[in-house]
Amino acid sequence: MKDLVPSWIRVSVVFFIIFGAVEFFIDSGAQPAFIKHPAVILFLLLILLILIAIEIIVSALENIMLHKLDDEAKARFLAEKEKSFKFTWLKETYQNLLGQTPIEDEGKIILDHNYDGIKELDNNLPPWWIYGFYASIVFAAVYLLRYHVFSGPTQIDELETELADARIAIETYKKTAKNLVDINTVTQLTEAADLSAGKTIFETNCVACHMADGGGGIGPNLTDPNWILGGDIKSIFKTVSEGGRSGKGMIAWKQQLKPLEIAQVSSYVLTFEGTTPANPKVPEGDVWVDKNAE
Ligand code: HEC
Repeated sequence: MKDLVPSWIRVSVVFFIIFGAVEFFIDSGAQPAFIKHPAVILFLLLILLILIAIEIIVSALENIMLHKLDDEAKARFLAEKEKSFKFTWLKETYQNLLGQTPIEDEGKIILDHNYDGIKELDNNLPPWWIYGFYASIVFAAVYLLRYHVFSGPTQIDELETELADARIAIETYKKTAKNLVDINTVTQLTEAADLSAGKTIFETNCVACHMADGGGGIGPNLTDPNWILGGDIKSIFKTVSEGGRSGKGMIAWKQQLKPLEIAQVSSYVLTFEGTTPANPKVPEGDVWVDKNAE
């Protein structure tokens, strides 16, 4: 006996529907669920085995039953089965949604006007249209109540909530991606971990000219309130990454240090201000006044 839909197609269709549902319902981020949770593979394999087993059992049962039937019953069963596979329900639903009177019955709904030989049928409105119409009435009522009576969120409100969420998401992202800092976004880091990283960078690269206590040598004193190139975090970040005035000896460190490291060492430099170094170099530059502060 030949099936209209081969069993391997049935098995694969059902399997892929379940596979799709698994991917849809298991929250696995950017990765497919079966990679993030390998147990899912086991589950899907089990499902596949069960599907194949069901196919085998059903066709075996059918065979046994067919052997017991007499010829007439057998023919009737096969005809029924064929019919159920031909998607007759699809065709019937389509017909019902159109709600058309079959051509043979048109005589019953013909109107008795005659416009120069053109006659008019009094068909029902198609059910698909009627149901769509009712649905739009229900929708309108719900919409009216939700947005105009109980003042639900407007599009502007929704936009603002989404923007607020996005801002929070950006903040969290920035915390994990500190290396993204540049001259525009840099802020003074205050966490102990950042400052001690800055200290290590300073002791490896900068002490030769600025001294371990920031008192200065070849480079200027970093502990006094005087700055040649600016004393806020942005100016210092710029000096360290782009270097000092040419010929003075302060190179651009952006080739050797990552943006985060520059931010760390710059923040560390700011902690020197107000301390008393062993051999302070005379102040150079002007006393720094923060233009943004009162
Ligand atoms: C080769 C010596 C040398 C090294 C190494 C050096 N600097 Fe400098 N640094 C200087 C000199 C010289 C200046 C003055 C530049 C100028 O006058 O334009 C300076 C200026 C600065 C300034 C600006 C001071 C002001 O008054 O505006 C900062 C901040 C600074 N250095 C930080 C650092 C940091 C951080 C490091 C290590 C990553 C470093 N320097 C390594 C020589 C050095």
